Amino acid sequence: MPEFELPERQATDTQMLTGFWYRALPADRVHRNRLHKATLLEIPLVIGRDRLGQPFVLRDACPHRGMPLNTGQFDGENLECPYHGWQFDVHNGQCQLIPSLTSDQTLKVDRIYAGSYPCEERDAFIWVYVPDPGSQGAGFTKPSEVPDGAPQIEKFTAKYKLAYLQAEMPVSIDHGIIGLMDPAHGPFVHQAWWWRSRHSIHEKKKHFEPIPNGFRMSAHTPSSNSAPYKLLRLYADADAITTTIDFVLPNVRSETIRAGKYWFSSLTTVTPITRAHCRIDVVAAWNLFRWLPFGPELLKFVFAKFVEQDRRTMEMQAEGLKHNPHLMLIDDADRPAKWYFQLKAAHLEAKRTGAEMKHPMSGPVTLKWRS
Ligand code: FES
Ligand SMILES: [Fe+2]
Repeated sequence: MPEFELPERQATDTQMLTGFWYRALPADRVHRNRLHKATLLEIPLVIGRDRLGQPFVLRDACPHRGMPLNTGQFDGENLECPYHGWQFDVHNGQCQLIPSLTSDQTLKVDRIYAGSYPCEERDAFIWVYVPDPGSQGAGFTKPSEVPDGAPQIEKFTAKYKLAYLQAEMPVSIDHGIIGLMDPAHGPFVHQAWWWRSRHSIHEKKKHFEPIPNGFRMSAHTPSSNSAPYKLLRLYADADAITTTIDFVLPNVRSETIRAGKYWFSSLTTVTPITRAHCRIDVVAAWNLFRWLPFGPELLKFVFAKFVEQDRRTMEMQAEGLKHNPHLMLIDDADRPAKWYFQLKAAHLEAKRTGAEMKHPMSGPVTLKWRS
């Protein structure tokens, strides 16, 4: 007798992972003589650039009495709180001056810190490292050590084009991420005459393998039912087009498409803003169509359309989620979503126990679905 499978109940865990790099703001929106506000994982931040253009990120709260520092004065080096005039070095948050101190008062000013965060400008974004709670420099603790660098887009030639786009979604990071890796919504949400229609739905078989902190959809020839890929094959005059898609914790989906000497890479992140809001940032780099004047615009149009369709869908979904409905994950289409939750749980467990993280996949897996 065949065994019937029952859907799995989806856990409603909206925990946001600390100890990782997150995209904060597009680099071209952060200017030298202005202070910008941003929120990551419910942490208020103030972001700016020093005199030399180097970015910095501080917690947007003065360690004295909590005044938002984004309302202060910035001279290109130190930021002055508007309440009592304490001054902080923007790169490490160290206090430089407390104007109310008299000459015989011995308070050690340089032992006071405004919370500061490691940051990096990479591939069109200012990335911020969000350390585990309690470890960031604020009050009397120094800023945390700078961890390994932020994720990078893979590039295969010295010359390339780069573009980004963003969309905010009123759903938790988890819904944002599983929406991103979900293969079954394509024919319903992403219909367009130049892409595919719901009638082109057919069975697919994809190979997945575990990678550190995530999983990979192994190099494969992309969907034959989409016009852009057919065009690409023609244009690149390549026998084979291969694409690889990786997901790694906490929120990174990277895709690489190679066709002969042409390539296209994207690095998409879903960033938790608050427990109930996330933002999707897509950054793409490519050497395809480099000589075509409308290349980047066309690509941006295609991506913007996709992202907008996803955003609208999640906005509607948020309505349904308000009342905390029963949710489920089914095989095989929702298996990547299950892996995501399992990876997250394994990561948290490893952190809790100090043991090595136990990867939820024991080896390569083939999944089948219709889309
Ligand atoms: S609150 Fe910032 S100096 Fe007092
Ligand atoms: Fe989508």
